[in-house]
Amino acid sequence: MDLLQTSFNVSAGALDFLGHVEQLAYLLAALLFILALANLSKQKTAQLGNCLGICGMVVALASVIVVSVANDERAAVLAIVLVVFAMAIGAAIGVWHAVKVQMTEMPELVAKLHSFVGLSAVLVGYNSFFANPGAEGASSVFHMGEVGLAVFIGAVTFTGSIVAYLKLSGKISGKPLTLPGRNLINLAMLVASIALIAWFITTRSVEAGLVPLAILTVISLVLGAHLVLAIGGGDMPVVVSMLNSYSGWAAAMDGFTLGNDLLIITGALVGSSGAYLSYIMCQGMNRSFVSVILGGFGNGSSSAPAEDKDYGDYTETTAEEVAELLKRSKRVVITPGYGMAVAQAQFPVADLTKRLMAMGVDVKFGIHPVAGRMPGHMNVLLAEANVPYDCVYEMDEINDDFADVDTVLVIGANDTVNPSASEADSPIAGMPVLHVWEAHEVIVFKRSMGNAGYAGVQNPLFFNKNTKMLLADAKASVDAINAAL
Ligand code: TAP
Repeated sequence: MDLLQTSFNVSAGALDFLGHVEQLAYLLAALLFILALANLSKQKTAQLGNCLGICGMVVALASVIVVSVANDERAAVLAIVLVVFAMAIGAAIGVWHAVKVQMTEMPELVAKLHSFVGLSAVLVGYNSFFANPGAEGASSVFHMGEVGLAVFIGAVTFTGSIVAYLKLSGKISGKPLTLPGRNLINLAMLVASIALIAWFITTRSVEAGLVPLAILTVISLVLGAHLVLAIGGGDMPVVVSMLNSYSGWAAAMDGFTLGNDLLIITGALVGSSGAYLSYIMCQGMNRSFVSVILGGFGNGSSSAPAEDKDYGDYTETTAEEVAELLKRSKRVVITPGYGMAVAQAQFPVADLTKRLMAMGVDVKFGIHPVAGRMPGHMNVLLAEANVPYDCVYEMDEINDDFADVDTVLVIGANDTVNPSASEADSPIAGMPVLHVWEAHEVIVFKRSMGNAGYAGVQNPLFFNKNTKMLLADAKASVDAINAAL
């Protein structure tokens, strides 16, 4: 115990020096985080981006620990023991989760992690308030405002993320909760929260401040849950990315309350990149950000096409016929979608790619920005199966080339290859799609003609003369084609 209570006798000069080192370390960490984001945006450099992010985090944590321990003369060793113990528990849980998580469960995991960020913002806000309750002066007004905002954003993020997790994991229904006047309820809670923060700022003691802060916390918790409950399960990935943004702003608010510049920078990076990602996802789905936030869309599961329109007959094919067709093809494009993720067909697809390339066929992948159910879903699956990334093309890079393609394999994609997006009265009108129908032959892999894609609309592509349907689980189909080849 004596050892644990040993204090470091750090001189004022050394503390000053450590302060400069801390600032330099923060600058370095911030640069590493920015470089990490830049590299993560490309599949080729994503691993490097990850490494840079990890290095940035190590630099940040090491400098925070060293400086705060040197500053605290009371229990330096005990502080180190506690921090290392907490980090070991966190790292063990994190590694265990990362190892066992399925790719399709990624959005759930991310939602869970965001709830921790939200909760920590609330706890840090309370802690900062107890340490420095309201006082006279402008700096106190700013401090109390930061605490109020941190608690508000943190609490909304916390319950919002928990509800998103529960919906994504199927633990509660994915259907949107559409209470009458729900937008008015949300608006009322928002106005009440602003009024409570204003009241909180005017308080001058812990007792007085605790009342508005506690009410604010409860309202924000309800607001977060209600906002996300109103959003359909299928829109959850956009919500998760939006909550990612909120968690960044919550961390930035924590940075203000703790006076930590690095937390402000990191929070702002996460907040703005999350907001931009949500915007890109909304664009890819041709939905407005506001319509997603206001909710009420999608029931979270693929539904049967609602319309009765007769699209004519479709033609079925077999794995053997597809294998013969591929043997005759010079250029093949594979456009994967959510069904490839469900079937976990990426490994046989990678195998098929290798075989075809070995036969001299030019094979490319066309990736729609919102194929699957999370950003970069298809890229992650293809990378997992070691598909060479130089044959993976974004939609805009490949969309003009389909007329020169002999065969397109649409593996578990539906909405992202739906030509009806160009019709004004279609529910997905205006959504950018892959022009697969322009190719000479199109093979669509899906399990049955009864189910539609995420948007619940029929796909006229399936009834085109140059389209053939391979109706079975995508993994079984690709395995059979590989066997036939
Ligand atoms: P979807 O439109 O969801 O269609 C999936 C297709 O896969 C269906 O045709 C389905 O038909 C088939 N399928 C499912 N399981 C299968 C299996 N085991 N084997 C073979 N086929 C299977 O897929 P998409 O084209 O990737 O479009 C994504 C949709 O999700 C878009 O509407 C997009 O807006 C939306 N969305 C995307 C995101 C992000 S960020 N990616 C976020 C939210 C929403 P069967 O059931 O008949 O097999």
